[in-house]
Amino acid sequence: MKLEKIDILDFNENVFKIIGKDYALLAAGDLKHHNAMTIGWGGLGFLWRKNVSMVFVKPTRYTYDFTEASDTYSINFFTPEDKEIISVFGSKSGRDCDKDAICNMEPIMLDGAIAYANARLVIVCKKIYHHDFDEALVPEDVKNMYYKDQKFHRVYYGEVISIYQAK
Ligand SMILES: Cc1cc2nc3c(=O)[nH]c(=O)nc-3n(C[C@H](O)[C@H](O)[C@H](O)COP(=O)(O)O)c2cc1C
Repeated sequence: MKLEKIDILDFNENVFKIIGKDYALLAAGDLKHHNAMTIGWGGLGFLWRKNVSMVFVKPTRYTYDFTEASDTYSINFFTPEDKEIISVFGSKSGRDCDKDAICNMEPIMLDGAIAYANARLVIVCKKIYHHDFDEALVPEDVKNMYYKDQKFHRVYYGEVISIYQAK
């Protein structure tokens, strides 16, 4: 299987399922210095006449250092057989170990973004905007569940540059 670029308008998957149920890896950086982590929150949509993605990154994640420093990021999706990848990238930090080596990952550059050749689907994005959740506007139950550490997610908006599918 090899990743091949598809027309963005031919993308035809259930976003609620592939992000909210299957999860994905958010990757940023370059071939030499990059990091990736599992994400279960995110979105795809349309803004400022652009196809966009939204990803939500806590500043405590090592990946945050890379989303901050990079102009691009990629969202990488895997098959159910690869659930170990989702588990390792969501439970270990790149600060402490080499997650790529643990999972035999194949990092590649796609249109200027770090991505994974062993993904089944890759969405390549160029950062266009970000903002931080405003504590005053976050509902109390959400605060109790996700923000006892007082570290609120930064939301990145990225223009979708390209989409690749394994064929
Ligand atoms: C299913 C799942 C979904 C997750 N979704 C997110 C997310 O959307 N945003 C986020 O900041 N962290 C999320 N995390 C937590 C990070 O993946 C986790 O803290 C990871 O170890 C960070 O790795 P890093 O320090 O190498 O960046 C999720 C974890 C799991 C298991």
